[in-house]
Amino acid sequence: MRIIAGKYGGRRLPASISGSTRPTSDRVREALGSALAARSAFDSAVVLDLFAGTGALGLEALSRGARRVVAVENNPQALRGILANVRELGVGADLTSIKLDLLKSPAAACKRLGELDVGRFTLVFADPPYAELPGLAPLLDALVRNHLCAKHVLFCVEHASTTQFEAPSTLSICGSYRYGDTSVTLLARSLQMGEGDDPSMQESLPPGRRPSAAVYAGSFDPITNGHVAIIRSGLVAFDRIIVAVLTNTNKKPLFSVDERVEMIGDAIGGDLRVEIDRFEHGLLVDYARSKSVRVVLRGLRAVGDFEHELQMANMNRHLGPGIETVFIMANDYFYVSSTLIKEAAALGGDLHGMVPELVERKLREKFGR
Ligand code: PNS
Repeated sequence: MRIIAGKYGGRRLPASISGSTRPTSDRVREALGSALAARSAFDSAVVLDLFAGTGALGLEALSRGARRVVAVENNPQALRGILANVRELGVGADLTSIKLDLLKSPAAACKRLGELDVGRFTLVFADPPYAELPGLAPLLDALVRNHLCAKHVLFCVEHASTTQFEAPSTLSICGSYRYGDTSVTLLARSLQMGEGDDPSMQESLPPGRRPSAAVYAGSFDPITNGHVAIIRSGLVAFDRIIVAVLTNTNKKPLFSVDERVEMIGDAIGGDLRVEIDRFEHGLLVDYARSKSVRVVLRGLRAVGDFEHELQMANMNRHLGPGIETVFIMANDYFYVSSTLIKEAAALGGDLHGMVPELVERKLREKFGR
């Protein structure tokens, strides 16, 4: 096990795998590290490394510019390993390791973390034993509610690719990455309507103005560059967009919901103004209301879309008075649809430029091309 990049890049860590820890592999750490570095998430970060194992994630963060790391572990042998790694790298007081049973009592864990007085956490890694994933949501929720996290905190939850992380209401998924059997779900604080919680929004909003929001719902099977363009244009009109993936569609989807969410997260690049959610069943207007949003965003491509969209907009207005549909005209991608993309992919067509790169790759895999 070694540090991948930054000032300790290439250095080997003496303590790697101890009996009961399942360390994040170098490969996942490398890919996640690049994704986080691209968001400047390490710069002067105050990092909380939950279920730290060997401490490699926290040490990687320190190497890449984090200011302070708190590594939490309950296994004494793993804790000794963290200390050995800290000594080897000579990071000294920049990393504090503590012994704590995180899942037993989130409240007690928060109290102990608060006593450390290291400042609010800006980056939180959570890599619990896979079987304990359901117990993680209350812990992360407690960290937010107990004011231990900065406003723009980013959570990285590592889990098996076969499961999905059910976020607490205080957090929203803003990205996800899949590295073979391992997935990482990125989460940011949920924006409560009217709170203007996102600091980047507060900067751009006149005092007192509530952030505007829209729901952009669809099957996204798969997301295309046309969808991405509508989301980007939508962010000119709205402070925040919830991309809602319809899970229960009449059409038999080519991609699973997890794959669709992963591809959207990858395409949007973790823009904190975009929330990716699943919309399981029921009416779209009810879903929008449940998110306290009053605008449904739709893209309009060619004239052919118009009649169906006019019907849907008016049906939604009837079903959900007070909820309006706003259309954005497609431009460069007016001829691109998920259906045509799948057809072209099945027949070996070149999709470059019409879909995000991950989608292109996954379509090639699906159709064995
Ligand atoms: O990507 P799509 O297939 O164009 O998305 C269609 C979607 C999800 C917007 C539409 O099927 C929908 O709103 N479904 C939810 C059920 C509902 O509210 N039906 C009444 C609306 S007319």
